[in-house]
Amino acid sequence: MPAMTPTAAGPSALKAVVFDAYGTLLDVDSAMQAHASRLGPDWAAISTAWRLRQLQYSWIRSLAGAHRDFWQLTAEALAWAAAAHGITDQALLDDVLQAYRKLTPYPDVEPALRRLHAQGKAAAILSNGEPSMLADAVAHAQIGGLLDAVLSAEDAGVFKPDPRVYRLATARFGAQPGEIGFVSSNAWDAFGAARFGFRVFWLNRKAQPVEFGLETDATELRSLADLPDALA
Ligand code: LAC
Repeated sequence: MPAMTPTAAGPSALKAVVFDAYGTLLDVDSAMQAHASRLGPDWAAISTAWRLRQLQYSWIRSLAGAHRDFWQLTAEALAWAAAAHGITDQALLDDVLQAYRKLTPYPDVEPALRRLHAQGKAAAILSNGEPSMLADAVAHAQIGGLLDAVLSAEDAGVFKPDPRVYRLATARFGAQPGEIGFVSSNAWDAFGAARFGFRVFWLNRKAQPVEFGLETDATELRSLADLPDALA
């Protein structure tokens, strides 16, 4: 019997590289930015309020056991942010909501996915997004051909950072948690993924202060251009 070659549990042992979608691959502010002239100078603050409400709704509904899909929560959060900022133009709000289905991908996304694809590495999305909104976003970003799977929290009936959502990725790739590389710009998601046992890359796009102990539990990246070296 030939001697066994020890296999390091390092990045080369990864069965797939799995990406969060909103904020990581897709610029969540691009929906309001597209309509900035109609929203007025506060558009960025309104966009931030919208995103925060959307996330809060997802966590509160998960904790309360009162699931509602992420598209509904996105619409409800937009209505709240609009009311809080005195925006009553329903046609404008409809346009902004539709723009959320066609968010602008960050420019480093396509090259990073293309490189993983060329190296024969499996790549996927694991998102709280509802399947049809993810399908629209992937089609708009033209990255569908570079992805092996688009996994939605909808199949778990609960949202990240609940471990049941991360389990969708281990199930899809027949992997142990440590065999999945997980990339997220959202610190709370990177934390949940690290707790689950993924090998985590925290994509700190906005140079945010470190939180959740990610300095020890994740590899910090500033751009997806740094991912190949981090995986090497
Ligand atoms: C995602 C969001 C919530 O799961 O960032 O894609």
